[in-house]
Amino acid sequence: MKIGVIGAGRIGKVHIRNISLFVPELEIKTVADPFANEQTEAYAAQFGIKNVTKNADDIFNDPEIEAVAICSSTDTHSKYIIEAAKAGKNCFCEKPIDYDLAKVHEAIDAAKKAGIKLQIGFCRRFDHNHRAVYDMVRAGKIGKPHIIKISSRDPEPPPIAYVKVSGGIFYDMMIHDFDMARFLAGDEVEEVYAAGAVLVDQQSARLATLIPQLLP
Ligand SMILES: NC(=O)c1ccc[n+]([C@@H]2O[C@H](COP(=O)([O-])OP(=O)(O)OC[C@H]3O[C@@H](n4cnc5c(N)ncnc54)[C@H](O)[C@@H]3O)[C@@H](O)[C@H]2O)c1
Repeated sequence: MKIGVIGAGRIGKVHIRNISLFVPELEIKTVADPFANEQTEAYAAQFGIKNVTKNADDIFNDPEIEAVAICSSTDTHSKYIIEAAKAGKNCFCEKPIDYDLAKVHEAIDAAKKAGIKLQIGFCRRFDHNHRAVYDMVRAGKIGKPHIIKISSRDPEPPPIAYVKVSGGIFYDMMIHDFDMARFLAGDEVEEVYAAGAVLVDQQSARLATLIPQLLP
């Protein structure tokens, strides 16, 4: 199957590499990124991908391409899911779908209406360590779960430019913990309480004061 990859940043490159090396059933025909440059072309060329474009429509309008992997920044995901649905292309999209629940529902509804497959990049469900915890819970090996404690850390602070479009750590990273809570419990979360403080990094502290204005 021929696919297109939208967004060739950090995670886009990971997916390009993994798909090219380990998924022989797929061929990445086109990579689209408005900021694509010679480095993007050189990276794609390593994996035999000749088409690098700045325009995602080159993917949506290509009848040979059956599916897209949306790996662009978070603020573009819901728009691209809707475009993929309109173009009738199955869709893998990186998490999260959007910051705004109305836009999340709009994207999911568009996918359902078009009858395309839509998968979100909750990769922990496919990680063998997390999967082992899931299997133990399901097999009753730990008894009836009453408390799930999840602790995650990013290895280093992301660049400030990334934080500005990713929505901050609750959207960007902790969303994996929300997903794991649902996955392990086999149930929905009723209520969320959060408290936070920036105690170390002064640049993040300055940005934290801006986050409410950045988000819808
Ligand atoms: N599932 C995971 O574990 C995981 C890990 C890392 C990132 N992500 C998600 O992947 C997304 C990208 O993260 P990243 O770390 O690669 O960020 P990044 O900033 O390194 O890359 C984003 C890329 O998107 C491109 N881009 C920006 N606007 C675009 C547009 N309109 N159309 C197409 N491309 C556009 C940028 O040029 C850049 O190359 C984020 O939503 C992030 O939450 C998921």
